[in-house]
Amino acid sequence: MVKPKVFVTRFIPEKGYELIRDSCKVDLWTDELPPSREDLLQHVHGVDGLLCLLTDKIDVEVLDAAGPNLKVISNFAVGFDNIDIHAATARKIPVGNTPDVLTDATADFAFALMLSVGRRLIEGERYVRNGQWKTWHPMHLLGIEMKGATLGLVGFGRIGKAVARRALGFDMRVIYYDPTETETHSDLKATSVDFEMLLKESDIISLHTPLTAKTHHLIDSRALSKMKPTAVLINTARGPIVDPDALYEALKSNHIFGAGLDVTEPEPLPTDSPLLTLDNILIMPHLGSASITARDNMAWMAARNLIAGVKGERLPNCVNPQVYSR
Ligand code: GLV
Repeated sequence: MVKPKVFVTRFIPEKGYELIRDSCKVDLWTDELPPSREDLLQHVHGVDGLLCLLTDKIDVEVLDAAGPNLKVISNFAVGFDNIDIHAATARKIPVGNTPDVLTDATADFAFALMLSVGRRLIEGERYVRNGQWKTWHPMHLLGIEMKGATLGLVGFGRIGKAVARRALGFDMRVIYYDPTETETHSDLKATSVDFEMLLKESDIISLHTPLTAKTHHLIDSRALSKMKPTAVLINTARGPIVDPDALYEALKSNHIFGAGLDVTEPEPLPTDSPLLTLDNILIMPHLGSASITARDNMAWMAARNLIAGVKGERLPNCVNPQVYSR
């Protein structure tokens, strides 16, 4: 039997790749960097399935270049803002993603950033390496204590809840803003509040909402101006939820205490970004889901979505199930 043709836009862990190799004729992009636009348009031509990453922009032009054989787009990520879902749905192409398996890894990473920024780990480490550590000092590098701090979660889906669960162990007070999730979660001791209240009351704000037209630059100069001068902002969701110019101003003027970003606008962050001149920010290269377990399981899930799609079966994790309605 002829195997379906698929394009896989980067090396992925073997746990998923072996499944794909077994059932498909694979064109694998092996460079470290993503395919250029031209390469992407060329390689999707005539494929039955596409496994892509959050670094690949999948829009109408790509769908046109792929042509009528394309039966599935499997994103190696839980977020899917890189894909024009509307255009895929209009063509009845199911889009798959990888929820759940990266929830704990990402929640862990949000906490790693909270603790690192709150307790000034990076500044302390630089201090040691630069030979500035002369003595123990009662007033040096003082930070924010987690116990009793109010943690404000923007977005209370899978990852937001996993962060709240961790916060229980730190004895934090958790409030959240999520227009789609307003019931009280007494098991997580988390209370729903409006956005203004969250900005005003939080000692730490952690973002766990998808990037949409509504959340683009949700954290802008107005929002930052409402935050406490002792507040820490954490973003492990998507870079463009935060306006980087406004964040720079807020950090530079010490209007807020610090920020920890795992995602930036743009990605990668240019090395001449003004944000990199500041001491009160910690920037990571989008590592939220980068545990070995999570990435293995993401590869497995993305492979299963891809294989189901090329066989014409329902995807195990489909973000546009409308494609299955008549
Ligand atoms: C990573 O950012 C993801 O959406 O999976």
